[in-house]
Amino acid sequence: MTVREILKMGDPRLLRVAQPVTGFDSDALHLLITDLLDTMVAANGAGLAAPQIGVDLQVVIFGSGEFNPRYPDAPVVPRTVLCNPVITPLGDEEQLGWEGCLSVPGLRGVVPRWQRIRYTGLDPYGDAVDRTVDGFHARVVQHECDHLIGKLYPMRVRDFAQFGYTEVLFPGLDASADD
Ligand code: NI
Repeated sequence: MTVREILKMGDPRLLRVAQPVTGFDSDALHLLITDLLDTMVAANGAGLAAPQIGVDLQVVIFGSGEFNPRYPDAPVVPRTVLCNPVITPLGDEEQLGWEGCLSVPGLRGVVPRWQRIRYTGLDPYGDAVDRTVDGFHARVVQHECDHLIGKLYPMRVRDFAQFGYTEVLFPGLDASADD
């Protein structure tokens, strides 16, 4: 078990377009996923992408499957490991919602995301994942997959009147967590 350092905004490794995974069910891939999970859980994150720990591969994990103190009102998202994901928006409806990011600690912003999406990809064994989701689940997937194309959520903020420090925007919320 290894909790890895999470890169912060400003590190150029967060701006790369990640490489696709080509070898499945390998020791190296399973080790990467274990490190991602350990790191995400230690930080109470809702998701984590391989580039956030400096690994240039198209791998994301998200979901807790249980209560997350950083997102006390969020619906449960099943814990998922996704390699080489592809997102297809279903319809043209967008939804605004607050986001934070472990690579942008201490801040929150309102970000537009597709309300309903289909996402496909491969699990660590190379088996297909294919889901149609909406709302918070769709938001988390879009946020994590953005990390694979070098996008951090502040790059998606449209109204900077709705971007700021968590402790100022939401006094008293989740004071134990960093973001
Ligand atoms: Ni993030």
